[in-house]
Amino acid sequence: MESHRRIWLTRCVSILLNPIWEGGAWLEILAAELPGMRIQVWPDIDDPDSVEFAVLWKHDPDDLRRYRNLRAILAITAGVDKLMGPEYPDVPIVRLSDEAMADEMAAYATHWVIHFHRNIDAYLDMQKDREWRAIRPAEAYRHPVGILGYGVMGRRVGGALSGLGYPIGAWTRTGGKDHGVTHYRGPGGLEDLLRSSKAVINILPLTPETAGLMDAGRFACFREGALYLSIGRGGTTVEADLAAALDSGPLGAAVLDVTETEPLPASSPLWDHPRVRITPHMSGFTRARTAGPLIAENIRRIQRGEQPLPLYDPQRGY
Ligand code: GLV
Repeated sequence: MESHRRIWLTRCVSILLNPIWEGGAWLEILAAELPGMRIQVWPDIDDPDSVEFAVLWKHDPDDLRRYRNLRAILAITAGVDKLMGPEYPDVPIVRLSDEAMADEMAAYATHWVIHFHRNIDAYLDMQKDREWRAIRPAEAYRHPVGILGYGVMGRRVGGALSGLGYPIGAWTRTGGKDHGVTHYRGPGGLEDLLRSSKAVINILPLTPETAGLMDAGRFACFREGALYLSIGRGGTTVEADLAAALDSGPLGAAVLDVTETEPLPASSPLWDHPRVRITPHMSGFTRARTAGPLIAENIRRIQRGEQPLPLYDPQRGY
């Protein structure tokens, strides 16, 4: 009787799958990685009691509470702020830490640092006038880049830019010891980093500590003409203060891949600000090819009684 029961339990474990993109690829990869586990593609969930794992980007909390045997939510995103709140089931949340996504973000950030450091906008204008004139920028070693948030993503961005000769400063909660990187911590450290950087890349997660962090006081610390690049979470930047810092100094330009409200409302003055570039939260995509096996491994870890990585930590807020 007991062995029958065990077989029944093993057979019935299932995964709720609700990715936004690449549904077919996710299904194929998870099925291959986790043979014996059933994958139910949301919204076609015919056996809610068998759902022990939910693999998703964002999801209606009321629906999530229907799965009374849910053991963990495995986000297909690095940031999990969209899954927070008392309305969500009280189960562990596992973030996605995918180096392939970090590579995409590093390429995106590198593109924009170079775009502004090497005056590409000026060349685009000159081309319209058939003008051939080189502008000599400072060498990369004299163009320090500050990175806010130095986890898997931040390190990849820092590594890409330092490989091209840019000096890297990193601001984190706890400091750090990365070779060749100047580390900063705490409110004073943040201001020091802003004062010494020609480009600042914000990759912070959204937590109670980082919400609205980049405000008028912080923008006032920027070097004249510096670039601000925001690729983590829009809620860490006060957009009205950013616009003011662009209009009355010291900021030279801003690139926003994330905004306080997404999509950025059509009424936002940032859309047609001449020194703002906006992209629609696309600096690093989640790819089923690389993320699927990482999530499957985390499900296996949970089943073996091990801790999945990286686990959302409510104390830290990410
Ligand atoms: C995207 O924004 C992510 O958090 O992965």
